[in-house]
Amino acid sequence: MSTWMRSLGLVCALMGCALIMACGPQAEAPAPAGEAGEGAPVVGGVAELPAAPETPEPTPIAEPETPPAPAGPTEDEEPRWTIAMSQCNLGEPWRVQMNADIAAAAAQHPEIEVVFQDAQNDASRQRSQIEEFAAAGVDLLIVSPMEPEPLTGPISEVYQQGIPVIVLDRAVYGEDYTCFIGADNVKIAEAVGEFVLEILGGEGQVVELTGRMTDMPGRDRHIGFHNVIDGTGVEVIFQADTIWLEPNARSEMESALSRFEDIDLVYGHNDPAARGAHLAARAADRDDEMLFLGIDALPHEGQAYVREGIFAATFLYPTGGAEAIDIALRILNGEEVPKEIVLNSRVFTPDNIDQGGEVLIFTEE
Ligand code: FRU
Repeated sequence: MSTWMRSLGLVCALMGCALIMACGPQAEAPAPAGEAGEGAPVVGGVAELPAAPETPEPTPIAEPETPPAPAGPTEDEEPRWTIAMSQCNLGEPWRVQMNADIAAAAAQHPEIEVVFQDAQNDASRQRSQIEEFAAAGVDLLIVSPMEPEPLTGPISEVYQQGIPVIVLDRAVYGEDYTCFIGADNVKIAEAVGEFVLEILGGEGQVVELTGRMTDMPGRDRHIGFHNVIDGTGVEVIFQADTIWLEPNARSEMESALSRFEDIDLVYGHNDPAARGAHLAARAADRDDEMLFLGIDALPHEGQAYVREGIFAATFLYPTGGAEAIDIALRILNGEEVPKEIVLNSRVFTPDNIDQGGEVLIFTEE
């Protein structure tokens, strides 16, 4: 195990946080390549590190204990490069899937190992974890930032130190990163708006259960939807911030149900929000009065709800995990990569789910 890994492992053990080796044997690895890796820097004194909170909020879903088995001949090969993955939160299934996609892609490449940290929806914790990764001399950082305001600066600092940075799924401000990978939330939400106009025949009363409105996707999924429906006969009669979480969506929907007798459709900014709304409506015996749709479209979540007849639609927000590993390898091998990679989406409805949904083309494939 390299010096930086021992250091980081020690720090993490002291902080009670999870350090998960996604790939690669724990054999003696060469010092990380690149500017930040030279001299195998160690993480600074433990006393300087922020204390872990006693009760993390919200409770994260545990990482899968056993990452997918490596497909390649990993046993005798030592990883050349260490990739750090800073995940803003593992409290929703989509983010667990993103980490699993990264782990599965990395497992194909014995030359890399990936270490994960979960910031548990706490921007200052994510900042510290990013700083620790940089101080430990990782070769590349993948970061899915919680919010742009507090994290643009720390990400920029890592990039300015010469560590390549892939910003995944949620954007930051400015240009201080190597590559951004994500889908276009405004365009997806515009597609949601078109779908809603069509399915409601141009008019109706909608409940909009948003993601956290200080996150880029929360803002963009609101803006895109309103780009299309504003000025039409479709009206948002109730809007609430669910912070992306199903239990919050459920209680917000209880309020909406108690205030409005006529609700035609619920637009959840993610599938857990739409699902929480459905649970509330079902408990009130009103689920048949309205339609539900969300964004994310995990096979075992949104897509399953479409199959079960609970959702009228779910729109894919791809995790980009596999693409991030692909781009990371290209960067580590010295190739030029695009500054921005926009992933396409799909819409799944009861009519097309058996055909794998329908592609929404936002970029040339
Ligand atoms: C999880 C999540 C997903 C959503 C994504 C956007 O935190 O809310 O449900 O699609 O983030 O970044």
